[in-house]
Amino acid sequence: MHVVGVSGSLQARSNTGAVLASVADLVTLRADIGAPPGAAVATAPTFEVFGGIEELPHFNPDRDVDPPHPAVGAWRSALAAADAVVIATPEYAHGYPGALKDALDWIVGSGELVDTPVLLVTASGSGGVRAAQALGPVIEVIAGQLVGPISIWGVAPKVTDGRLTDPDDLDALASAVELLLSLAAAPSV
Ligand SMILES: Cc1cc2nc3c(=O)[nH]c(=O)nc-3n(C[C@H](O)[C@H](O)[C@H](O)COP(=O)(O)O)c2cc1C
Repeated sequence: MHVVGVSGSLQARSNTGAVLASVADLVTLRADIGAPPGAAVATAPTFEVFGGIEELPHFNPDRDVDPPHPAVGAWRSALAAADAVVIATPEYAHGYPGALKDALDWIVGSGELVDTPVLLVTASGSGGVRAAQALGPVIEVIAGQLVGPISIWGVAPKVTDGRLTDPDDLDALASAVELLLSLAAAPSV
């Protein structure tokens, strides 16, 4: 099982990045939950953060050519290799960051997420609920299933040492991760 995470924030010191790191912890620890003693570590899901959306050109159908721009190719390859995806984003101006919209537009036609479950997490002072309202339908139209959204309210003081610390938020994320991974493991119909 391979999970790819992507952040809508391009900031180096990012609350969203910390939330994504905590989701990665939940994904990679999850193999231990209920696993028989001594189970092979090889069964643990892997989690990779795709950090390349800043390198993507603005989406332009005229530039959607074969072979694709190298950054577009890298983005599509990363998603094609994913059994499940986690999109975490801050709210920007009651929406979500344009870089993330561009990234998603690059895969509308190529369809890498068509059969892939996607967990949406928003993290902002306001929880990013308006970002989730805008982004949820986008994910529903390009991906297999939408899990969440989970909204992290007042995120900044909840982050310590690059991780989310709020136990209620972590519980909500753990449940969402459980659902995401079970959808990814289910045979497609
Ligand atoms: C341009 C801009 C617009 C923002 N607009 C909103 C907003 O509409 N609602 C909100 O709750 N926070 C808003 N914020 C605050 C960010 O969502 C918040 O600082 C978030 O934690 C930033 O994420 P990051 O640390 O992962 O980069 C805005 C921040 C910026 C830079």
